[in-house]
Amino acid sequence: MLIVQLSDSHLSADPARRYRDVDADTRLASMLARVARYQPDLVVVSGDVSDDGSTASYQRAAASFEALGCPWVWMPGNHDHPATMTEVRALEPVIHSNGWQILLLNTWIEGEEGGRLGEAQLVRLEAQLAGDESPALIVLHHPPVSVDTAWMNEIGLEDRETFWKILGRYDHVQAVLCGHIHHEMTCLHQGVPVMSVPAIAAQFVPDRPDFAVDACAPGGFRLIRLSIDDTQRPRLSTRVEYVPV
Ligand SMILES: [Fe+2]
Repeated sequence: MLIVQLSDSHLSADPARRYRDVDADTRLASMLARVARYQPDLVVVSGDVSDDGSTASYQRAAASFEALGCPWVWMPGNHDHPATMTEVRALEPVIHSNGWQILLLNTWIEGEEGGRLGEAQLVRLEAQLAGDESPALIVLHHPPVSVDTAWMNEIGLEDRETFWKILGRYDHVQAVLCGHIHHEMTCLHQGVPVMSVPAIAAQFVPDRPDFAVDACAPGGFRLIRLSIDDTQRPRLSTRVEYVPV
């Protein structure tokens, strides 16, 4: 099964409005043209689909994802407006495919840039992992780890300690994918790979304490191949593909 993870398209109601000196609609179109070559089985969009939470931005994004002709799901990021988003397309909490479970979490907090899973969702996550032992891939907008960018850590995932306590009680979570930081990152936490994806729109400069944008840096998407091998072990391979601007 081939999944493509996309993130942070930051579209606005007015397609002419630029996001951090970048034409977000053009970036999305060129990204999806490249994604289409792979004919993925599933596209997962990990938040900040919209920059202004407008219906028009969600409708344009949804039409673009739909045109790929494959199943696709999205989840909110801090810039999104979940109620408006779900009027265009519902949020799905879990997808089962090819022996895997893909868990899609919502970290949105009204009026804040940081994220939180919240008690109810953490209870559901624990129940899901306790009740289904198939290999799991978790996707959420905010990274549940510290990153090498001080300002970004201030708007990270509030309740990540509880998240990792839950994951520590199970051994079938194979990887965690996120967006939000607008650049590629990979680390291990409690033995679980945590990976971010570049933004569709403008990239943030990693590894520096203050905020900086590189409007010329290419955006990208993550390709994730999931399977179960002949000995019934889960197999995950992944790489990021960059799309020149
Ligand atoms: Fe973003």
